[in-house]
Amino acid sequence: MSKKILIADDERTTLEILKSTLTQTNYLVDTANSALEALKKLESNSYNLLITDVKMPRMSGLELLEKVKQEYPQMDVIVMTAYGVIDDAVAAMKKGAIDYILKPFSTEGILLVIQRALEQQDLVLENRYLKEEIKTQYSYETIVGSSKKMQEIYELMERVADTDSTVLIRGETGTGKELVARRLHYISDRKDKIFVEVDCVALTETLLESELFGHEKGAFTGAIKRKIGKFELAHNGTIFLDEIGDISPTMQVKLLRVLQERKFERVGGNEPVRVNVRVVAATNKDLEKAVAEGKFREDLYYRLNVIPIYLPPLRERVEDIPLLANHFLNVWNRKVKKSIKRISPKAMNALLNYPWPGNIRELENVIQRAVIMEKGEVITRVDLPVGKKSPDSEGSFTSMEMTGDLSFPAAKEQFEKEYLIALLKKSRGSIRAAAEYSLLDSKSIYLKMRRYGLKKEDFR
Ligand SMILES: Nc1ncnc2c1ncn2[C@@H]1O[C@H](COP(=O)(O)OP(=O)(O)OP(=O)(O)O)[C@@H](O)[C@H]1O
Ligand SMILES: [Mg+2]
Repeated sequence: MSKKILIADDERTTLEILKSTLTQTNYLVDTANSALEALKKLESNSYNLLITDVKMPRMSGLELLEKVKQEYPQMDVIVMTAYGVIDDAVAAMKKGAIDYILKPFSTEGILLVIQRALEQQDLVLENRYLKEEIKTQYSYETIVGSSKKMQEIYELMERVADTDSTVLIRGETGTGKELVARRLHYISDRKDKIFVEVDCVALTETLLESELFGHEKGAFTGAIKRKIGKFELAHNGTIFLDEIGDISPTMQVKLLRVLQERKFERVGGNEPVRVNVRVVAATNKDLEKAVAEGKFREDLYYRLNVIPIYLPPLRERVEDIPLLANHFLNVWNRKVKKSIKRISPKAMNALLNYPWPGNIRELENVIQRAVIMEKGEVITRVDLPVGKKSPDSEGSFTSMEMTGDLSFPAAKEQFEKEYLIALLKKSRGSIRAAAEYSLLDSKSIYLKMRRYGLKKEDFR
């Protein structure tokens, strides 16, 4: 795309020469006879570069530079000044000009300066892209899982990746929503463009609005510069709106408008900004319930829910647990420079029987801890919260098999041991704290520990 340049000079001949030279070099050129005219044109057009003469009646090029830098901090300005008035060039650079041109100038000379300025601009932009990319790169990881449910998800992702339809990713915490959002971007034809992530709960309403849509200078206290929002930054790429279920009613209205019209205004601005972005949103909230309760706009819900992707909780695809556990074993071996070979069948069995309320994130944490703690070559022990209730098996201690096969004294003994382990985990091996939590006295805790062969060192 051709770059657009505005030239301000009170001498008509200079304007004409410059205009024809630059137009021949494929730049789009606009001209202004005075600083004031330049300011007017800047208000209603967008340019990549401003070139201004210093000596102009009424308002000088240096004053213009100052005003432009205040109002459009992203705008690059080149200053033209006569030979012998090098002081003006120095002053201009101090005020933030990107470069200067000495008059009279040669065609090659001026083209070089312009080209250099524009290249530098691209670098700055690219840098911003790169910063975002670095954040995303570490997460460009494999999605592990071969269960039928996961295969269906891979297929769905392939089918919708290249469409521009809005995708809504649903699933409990830790099921991989963010992972899927990134993957969708990297298998789409927008993959060479930017992936921008916004965590919608992390910010207050005002901050979220300016984060999403940007703001003009002076839009609110603290808005000392114009700022580009994430929607603008994501132009041609993908924007990932995480935790969308938590946004306020006002933000819901604003978001609805962007989704409908693909345009918005920066906070404190009134010029519409148009963008081409693929929207991917995620939530672990029950949006249908929120809609029924009037907490989430129905129209927004339909706009978002064009293509829903449901990520099943880990307990509904138990067959993926060994695969995932071994994957995280490799990952953490590498990260902490260990070479643990495998997970013992007993430990794996424990993993298979745990309900995983924190899903894959929790599984990764458990394996990470086991890798760090393990001194041998095989993981024989995994630390699982004992007695945690699974959401759909209320009241049962999941690590215990309540089959009725045991005699009462044996069942009681098993319960006592499991309970004690959980208690000591919670108290990190402190008998005094365990006594406080359990309302037992320290002595009986101590005796029971001896009876079941438990050592407090093991819980630190
Ligand atoms: N299928 C998978 N294969 C490998 N790693 C996975 C998989 N799913 C999730 N993970 C890993 O588990 C962790 C949690 O995933 P992610 O952050 O995508 O979850 P989430 O659904 O966004 O959770 P939350 O709702 O809490 O934000 C991440 O470290 C991610 O890399
Ligand atoms: Mg997430």
